Amino acid sequence: MSEPIIELRGVNKHYYPTAKRAFFSRPENAQPVKALNAVSLSIFPGEIFVIVGLSGSGKSTLLRTLNYLIPPSKGAVLFQGRELGSLTAAQTIALRREHIGMVFQSFALFDERSVLDNVAFGLEVAGMARAERHERARAMLAKVGLGDVANQYPHQLSGGMQQRVGLARALVVNPSVLLMDEAFSALDPIIRREMQSLLLTLQAESRRTVVFVTHDMEEALRLGTRIAIMEKGELVQVGAPEALINAPATPYVRHFFSGVDTSRWQMAETYTDIWQPR
Ligand SMILES: Nc1ncnc2c1ncn2[C@@H]1O[C@H](COP(=O)(O)OP(=O)(O)OP(=O)(O)O)[C@@H](O)[C@H]1O
Ligand SMILES: [Mg+2]
Repeated sequence: MSEPIIELRGVNKHYYPTAKRAFFSRPENAQPVKALNAVSLSIFPGEIFVIVGLSGSGKSTLLRTLNYLIPPSKGAVLFQGRELGSLTAAQTIALRREHIGMVFQSFALFDERSVLDNVAFGLEVAGMARAERHERARAMLAKVGLGDVANQYPHQLSGGMQQRVGLARALVVNPSVLLMDEAFSALDPIIRREMQSLLLTLQAESRRTVVFVTHDMEEALRLGTRIAIMEKGELVQVGAPEALINAPATPYVRHFFSGVDTSRWQMAETYTDIWQPR
């Protein structure tokens, strides 16, 4: 098996109450919030690694430790074998800019910029000349099916189209890793499925590593090469869909599959030996 592109080793993120909050709360409430607790995992090049868990289980915190937007309280994050904690702030920023794209639930587009200039933003920051970055941005917009709205502004577009812009903006710099936090969760079911299909199509064209946070197990099953289940800051189970379905580690894991049609994976039961998580 290839080397991991991202590795977490014993990562904790504990939030301590601020002085003001500690003053007003009773001592038993003044414990740190253990947003992440002893999380170790490896993510491999080209996989869609999906993180699932209830609200507050630490999914967003986990995603943001991967590019050191949230530095862990303890433990190590390795990106292509380099420990992020050993980089300077400038090196970390450069690494994010060159290698790691991010897409948010809230789209987070620049309202005062045209769609084209939103998509070209990362190239502009990297110092690319206007004509070239516009050409690349146009090509990327065409790939996400927005070839004809380049000169419009984000507020003129539907939510689904805005998220296509968000995706194009993240992908235009050709990052090796794409981090997506509930990126499709705000969209209507039909548009959401279209965006899932688009992501899968883009993956088929040029494979990159995607880390995708969602609440929704149907989405996780549709997209995930492997799925990681988070509970109260801890990683409960990581594995291919069929491994989780056929051998859920705990009732919490099983709970995520209730009401979800898993027949497609259950038929693959005889192959679980091959697909067991490492
Ligand atoms: N800046 C912060 N200060 C204090 N506590 C925080 C902070 N950020 C997150 N937390 C807490 O850490 C825990 C994990 O939060 P996180 O946002 O990672 O969960 P999540 O799984 O992404 O939840 P959701 O599904 O609601 O987005 C929660 O208890 C949250 O309240
Ligand atoms: Mg979150």
